[in-house]
Amino acid sequence: MKIGVPAEVLPGETRVAITPESVKKLVEKFGFEVMIESGAGDKASLPDKGYEEAGASIAPDAATIWKESDLILKINAPAEDPRSGKHEADLLGKGQTLISLLWPDLDKPLVERLQAGGGSAIALDKIPRITRAQKMDVLSSQANIAGYRAVIEAADHYGGFFGLQMTAAGKSPPATVLVIGAGVAGLAALGAAKNLGAQVRAFDVRPAVKEQIQSMGAQFLEVEIEESGDGGGGYAKTMSKEFIEAEMALFRKQAPEVDVVITTALIPGKPAPKLWLADMVEAMKPGSVVVDLAASRGGNCELTEPGEVVQKHGVWLVGHENLTHRLPTVASRFFGNNLVHLLDDMGGAEGFKFDLDDEVVRGALVVKEGELIWPPPKVEKKPAPKAPEAAAPKAQAAPAAKAPPAKSKKKKSSHGHGPEPSEGSNLGRGILGLVLASVFAAIGIWAPNEFVQHFTVFVLSCFVGWQLIWSVNHALHTPLMSVTNAISGIIIVGGVLQAGSGEMNLAGILGAVAILVASVNIAGGFLVTQRMLSMFKKG
Ligand code: NAI
Repeated sequence: MKIGVPAEVLPGETRVAITPESVKKLVEKFGFEVMIESGAGDKASLPDKGYEEAGASIAPDAATIWKESDLILKINAPAEDPRSGKHEADLLGKGQTLISLLWPDLDKPLVERLQAGGGSAIALDKIPRITRAQKMDVLSSQANIAGYRAVIEAADHYGGFFGLQMTAAGKSPPATVLVIGAGVAGLAALGAAKNLGAQVRAFDVRPAVKEQIQSMGAQFLEVEIEESGDGGGGYAKTMSKEFIEAEMALFRKQAPEVDVVITTALIPGKPAPKLWLADMVEAMKPGSVVVDLAASRGGNCELTEPGEVVQKHGVWLVGHENLTHRLPTVASRFFGNNLVHLLDDMGGAEGFKFDLDDEVVRGALVVKEGELIWPPPKVEKKPAPKAPEAAAPKAQAAPAAKAPPAKSKKKKSSHGHGPEPSEGSNLGRGILGLVLASVFAAIGIWAPNEFVQHFTVFVLSCFVGWQLIWSVNHALHTPLMSVTNAISGIIIVGGVLQAGSGEMNLAGILGAVAILVASVNIAGGFLVTQRMLSMFKKG
């Protein structure tokens, strides 16, 4: 099966759909033949030689690629090639499959044009945002790059340092950066700004991202209205008028304080919401910067001029429409990797097929051999697993005030770790308690006083220790381990005192055993801690 990669024809595009690295995998691992148009990777600093060395052949022109390939890989949706005057969509014929961005919901005439030739077309922008598809998701891989680049653009226009500087010539406070929309691009921008030393604040309508923002060391801004903007699949939904008003009030307060604003707010299938209004730009300090990642969809900032960098009210407004063009080498590499994963998912060269049961392929396949099969039927959500029979009546009874809250029920179970004890196990416990009570009574009658005292302390410690450990949340077991290490230290001291007497009596032997067991606990504790710490080390 032959893959063909033409040069991108979109004006200003610098990326290429595959790199030598992905060619190597496609040829050696997945059995494809690869052909690339001469010079296709030049703008991404990927010359023909690298492709040849990786196993690709070089085609002299785009016409050869479109004529001889079974699969055509591109970044941008087909467009008119200014070199030949031909529209790429008209070049797709029977038996061929195009894989590229297509935006079928926005450009229906293009889809019809693709159908006319009888070929097939997969829209990379329609790959569902599900965990399994992350590695094939070009929108995310490119948004990540755009988020990073937005910070570089901001730093380029901002007249100060991003991080705190203390020099003999003076002190410079860190820049304050506000990120609006903490999706893929927003989180990447947040990370990059943080790495440069800026103080970062972020806002998003999806409460789910609060933890992510905070875990990256940024401040999560909140409005007082409680409304979730979660539209499913990591995307947002349109918010109520009240919420947007509260958001605007929040931003108005932020405007005079922040030095850089990076806007990335997006609602799928809708124009970019206008969130940074003219009066907010006016309220910013002169020399501040707004980078509008949504420029190509009209912009999140009211004063953005898509495709331009302008200064208004003394504030830089950066409206570059495609920031990934500014990092073409890595953007091409990530794009190529996404394609390799998709082609692997589709069976490689040997088993290549449109598996309509594959959620990823079904979601992205727009035209199949000339037939329009998009949008795909809605995937029926699996019914939630049935509640256990015993629990069902409780749940139904919940609205009735009499039903006990679930929490208190849980407390009643044995330390919240298992099911409630059955009658049988209650009987077993009763018998065990009786046996233990008899043993203790016998010890109380026959054993010397001193032994009874020590034995009581021993039994009570076992009970308290058991209760303590089983009641502690799993997440807190590491700090708990340090406490048990400290206790083991005390045990070793006691053991040394007993075993150190030199006499081979019961106390000496028990002392030696105590030293051994406590040492194992301490050494094991250190080993586990070491292992956990190494998980946080880079590289
Ligand atoms: P995403 O869907 O992952 O993130 C968008 C975020 O905006 C979501 O977290 C959403 O909850 C949030 N949002 C929606 N409405 C909001 C509101 N009213 N207030 C605050 N947050 C709100 O999208 P992704 O992939 O991160 O893309 C972000 C933007 O970047 C898009 O506009 C996209 O077109 C653009 N983009 C630009 C590129 C470029 O080169 N210029 C490249 C890739 C993406």
